[in-house]
Amino acid sequence: MYFSEYWRLFLLVFSAGIVGLVIDQLLFGILIGVSIYLVRHLKYIRKLHKWLSNTKSSQEPPEGSGIWFGIFSKIYALQKRNKSQKIKLASALTRFQEAASAMPDAMVILTQEGKIEWFNQAAKFLLGLKSPQDIDQHIINLIRFPAFKKYLDDQQRDEEGLEIISPYNERLILQLRMVPYGRGKALLVARDVTRVSQLEQVRRHFVANISHELRTPLTVLTGYMETLLANDESNQNDWHQPVQQMYSQTNRMQGIVKDLLLLTRLENYNQEVEGTTVNVTELIEMLLEEARMLGHNKKQALTADYDTSLKLKGKREDLQSAFSNLVSNAVRYTPENGKIHIKWFQDEAGAHFVVEDSGMGVSKMDIPRLTERFFRVDEARSRETGGTGLGLAIVKHVLNSHNGNLSIKSSLGKGSAFSCNFPLDRIVSENAVVPLESNKSA
Ligand SMILES: Nc1ncnc2c1ncn2[C@@H]1O[C@H](COP(=O)(O)OP(=O)(O)OP(=O)(O)O)[C@@H](O)[C@H]1O
Ligand SMILES: [Mg+2]
Repeated sequence: MYFSEYWRLFLLVFSAGIVGLVIDQLLFGILIGVSIYLVRHLKYIRKLHKWLSNTKSSQEPPEGSGIWFGIFSKIYALQKRNKSQKIKLASALTRFQEAASAMPDAMVILTQEGKIEWFNQAAKFLLGLKSPQDIDQHIINLIRFPAFKKYLDDQQRDEEGLEIISPYNERLILQLRMVPYGRGKALLVARDVTRVSQLEQVRRHFVANISHELRTPLTVLTGYMETLLANDESNQNDWHQPVQQMYSQTNRMQGIVKDLLLLTRLENYNQEVEGTTVNVTELIEMLLEEARMLGHNKKQALTADYDTSLKLKGKREDLQSAFSNLVSNAVRYTPENGKIHIKWFQDEAGAHFVVEDSGMGVSKMDIPRLTERFFRVDEARSRETGGTGLGLAIVKHVLNSHNGNLSIKSSLGKGSAFSCNFPLDRIVSENAVVPLESNKSA
């Protein structure tokens, strides 16, 4: 192509030169030849400019010869390819938007600063977002719940997400989850869990009602059995043994009912408990006494190491249930001559109540299931020791309501450590430094 263009230029200049020679004006002839060549190119450049400036990109390219034919057809092919790619992209985008709109879950794309960049159709009905007014608004200004703000600020968010009442329709219960992606962006997903939540409510009421209804008959039964056993001082009657067994099983049932009622009460706390200042030292001393009685014939070494100045803001009876469960577990699941150590201390993360034992331990696989209701590692052995598997579920709920958590370390056959971790704002410390200002005013 280029070659023929050189030839064209050469022939034009050559023939113009010959004509110039004939009329004895060689330079003039060459100049005329070059000018004709230039004018031809200018004509094509003008055509190209006119064609490209035309908004109708589908217009056929202008006709051209030589190198211009090549240039026009290459640009035309490029335009066509761009156009088909654009169509493909647009249809992919439409497909994505249609799929996102059809999603029953609300989806909101948030920038690094928490501003709304995009949301789907469901976000309008579930979260009450409006388009286009709410684009670029901070999500905190539109979902105004302290728990949501806390959830957003939390670096280690709960996998289960956060349940809130819909800001748009108060009959809807939503489960919110933040999914980080890309560079600092996040996708907020809200799912309607009203039905699941209602079923959960029904389950809670059912368990609560049943437990409540069982309480009275059980009290009557144990009462009569106690009287029967007390009247049979000589233990000689044939029925003594069976009644004794019935009495202990009825007692066990009473324990289960009590635990279920406690669990229901704990589940019904929708928010953190405030509580009062709890003297944990006093609690530990009481628990040590209990543990000694529970394991009186197991010759276990029971030790404790606790900060007497460290107190906790919370609900005393709930904390007592939780701590006592951990201590009684340690006594029950640690064999004779084993070691049990209780610790209560503070570090930069908060306050910790830890019960360590050198007992039978739990396998790695079972650890995540320990806090499930009625879960027992070894059912037969647990039943022998009187366990029902509600203890650790209670512990978990008590800690949740105190904004704390339970961490478990255990290795099979070696022992376990159960830690109740409380955040710093739950601590009431006598050693707390009193700010200078308030000293002065005192
Ligand atoms: N310190 C421990 N060492 C070894 N296993 C333990 C320990 N603590 C708990 N477990 C295991 O975890 C299971 C669940 O404990 P949890 O306290 O929930 O129930 P439980 O002790 O069986 O009954 P409950 O506490 O309701 O009387 C226990 O059955 C036991 O198998
Ligand atoms: Mg227990």
